[in-house]
Amino acid sequence: MRARKVTDRVMWVGSVDWDRQLFDELIPLPDGTSYNAYLVTGSEKTALIDTVDPAKTGEWCGLMDAMQLSCVDYVIASHGEQDHSGSIPFALERFPEAKLVCTPKAKGMLIDLLHVDEDRVVTVADGDTLSLGDLTLEFIHAPWVHWPETMLTYLHERKVLFPCDLFGSHLAASELFVSDPARVYRAAKRYYAEIMMPFRTSIVKHLERLSGYNIDIIAPSHGPLHDNPKFIMDMYRDWVSGPLANKVVIPYVSMHGSTQVIVDRLIAALAEQGVQVAPHKMSGGDTGRLAMELVDAATVVLGTPTVLAGAHPQVAYAAILANALRPRAMFASIVGSYGWGGKAVEQLLALVPNLKVELFDPVLFKGLPSESDLRTIDELAGKIAEKHSDAGLV
Ligand code: FEO
Repeated sequence: MRARKVTDRVMWVGSVDWDRQLFDELIPLPDGTSYNAYLVTGSEKTALIDTVDPAKTGEWCGLMDAMQLSCVDYVIASHGEQDHSGSIPFALERFPEAKLVCTPKAKGMLIDLLHVDEDRVVTVADGDTLSLGDLTLEFIHAPWVHWPETMLTYLHERKVLFPCDLFGSHLAASELFVSDPARVYRAAKRYYAEIMMPFRTSIVKHLERLSGYNIDIIAPSHGPLHDNPKFIMDMYRDWVSGPLANKVVIPYVSMHGSTQVIVDRLIAALAEQGVQVAPHKMSGGDTGRLAMELVDAATVVLGTPTVLAGAHPQVAYAAILANALRPRAMFASIVGSYGWGGKAVEQLLALVPNLKVELFDPVLFKGLPSESDLRTIDELAGKIAEKHSDAGLV
């Protein structure tokens, strides 16, 4: 991809990764991703905001060659994670006069992770500005979106916010700006769910602070740019603190059919009660989709068979994931089956200390549940519907 114009004297100089399928060897990327870097050219100085993932360093160096840039004065490191910082050593080598600008916390990380020369680093405090001549960059410290060292950069004269991962989406696209809002909505929600959701308390504060800035363009580090900032900022406000949905998400596995019968009955009973249901089979399932459902589900019900006296490992994985993502769910339960006994319930509950939920009594059956067993599942659905109604979610 060639350099592309964002606005007057701001260029996109990143890389689109059409084929990447996993991030952190964990997160599915059904739509690839991009690593967005930006070049801001003032009347006196030039700043490069972030670089690209090491897998794209060669391509990125080719882009720099094509631009025939003679000088970069500042390399701004918004974030230490290597998908943005990984090519910084190459940028510093290519532009030997450049200073590396970052937060004090990022300085240590960049030295540890990339072995950059400490003498090249200039740290900036929250609210500091950097003059490029007729253009001014302001640095906004934004810890915990999603690392502790992150900062955002605001270009005053063009009203462009460079928020790094915040407001991003793992979406490889030929268009620079959002052109298909529904597609970007899904990708951004997936990104929020997987990366940002555990830090929503910090994000609330950052959103509040950003409301004091006049922003025309949001240029994140992943996915399309926003020339309608309200679109993505409203979505974030909804995800971090909007109303929960009258919805139950059910991560589950069934080995020989008993737990499937239970989950099917629960789905039907909840549907009859007017509750939205999002079943998610863990075996072979897309965990990003599960994360998205957790953004606004009021209730989580884990469904598990019993394996080696414990929960199925795939359901334990769902519990660990939910615990790490810290969704806003208010209620939870466990359903499932066993052959001769076990500790599946105790094991799963021990995996979710971060979930601040009211627990409905778990319901596990020995073997294939009978019709009278399944009426207990109907009762569980009734209790969930009642709680949702009491919470004003209906
Ligand atoms: Fe896109 Fe946290 O790096």
